[in-house]
Amino acid sequence: MQNWLFNEYAHCGVDYSDARRAARYDDQHRKFRNYEHEFQQMLAFLELGNTTDKTMIDLGCGTATTALLAAQQFKQVYAVDVSEAMLSQARSKNLQQLPNLSLIQAGFLSYQHAAQPVDLVITKAALHHLPDFWKQVALQRINRMLKPGGLLYIHDVVFQFEPQQYQDRIVAWIDTLHKAAGEQIKAEVETHLRDEYSTFGWVLEGMLERAGFTVEKLRCNDGFVAEYACCKTQDI
Ligand SMILES: C[S@@+](CC[C@H](N)C(=O)[O-])C[C@H]1O[C@@H](n2cnc3c(N)ncnc32)[C@H](O)[C@@H]1O
Repeated sequence: MQNWLFNEYAHCGVDYSDARRAARYDDQHRKFRNYEHEFQQMLAFLELGNTTDKTMIDLGCGTATTALLAAQQFKQVYAVDVSEAMLSQARSKNLQQLPNLSLIQAGFLSYQHAAQPVDLVITKAALHHLPDFWKQVALQRINRMLKPGGLLYIHDVVFQFEPQQYQDRIVAWIDTLHKAAGEQIKAEVETHLRDEYSTFGWVLEGMLERAGFTVEKLRCNDGFVAEYACCKTQDI
């Protein structure tokens, strides 16, 4: 391996390779997230229509809660994550009924999609683990996983406020999450901001354009958690 490549298995910030953290993950996230509602909202946002003949990749799938929902209505779902601990939690769920769900240990920078290009790539709360240079590399790789006209859905912390507002906005955001989900999530959000690589919307949008995507929709209600629907409009 070349020495200058980013080590995506090193887990900057929150360490998702930790088995105890992975075991607590679903319970903690369900305190402030409703995965079923998020999934339905995502499908409506993407205006996908009937998905039974569609294929999908979830990059940074974690414990595969979303991938499991997707496998109930997509033709084939590839759920990819660097963390063996998170994938092991996924495997402990009832997957026998879902032969169309593949769990794969790999990452944005290493996953080799050997099957046909897919209709949809999603990534939720994961792309911010890469510094911006490597996000650009990841987006280019995602472009090549998609069919022409395929969709990329990003759900992540992407700052939508003006840079000079950062102090007040961040303090207020942490306070809101602390009240909603408790001490552990507060600590994780602080780690996220300090040690991980969320960026501004205008930076990510420039990257998406250079990776052959057109941003079709952006939804963000709090200035932090953003959803992007992007169409592959160019082969790169
Ligand atoms: C906050 S969790 C999100 C999990 C899931 N997508 C969800 O919405 O609950 C972040 C996940 O990204 C994974 N991750 C971190 N860096 C990654 C990379 N370079 N490639 C793929 N997955 C990565 C972590 O292992 C972890 O499971």
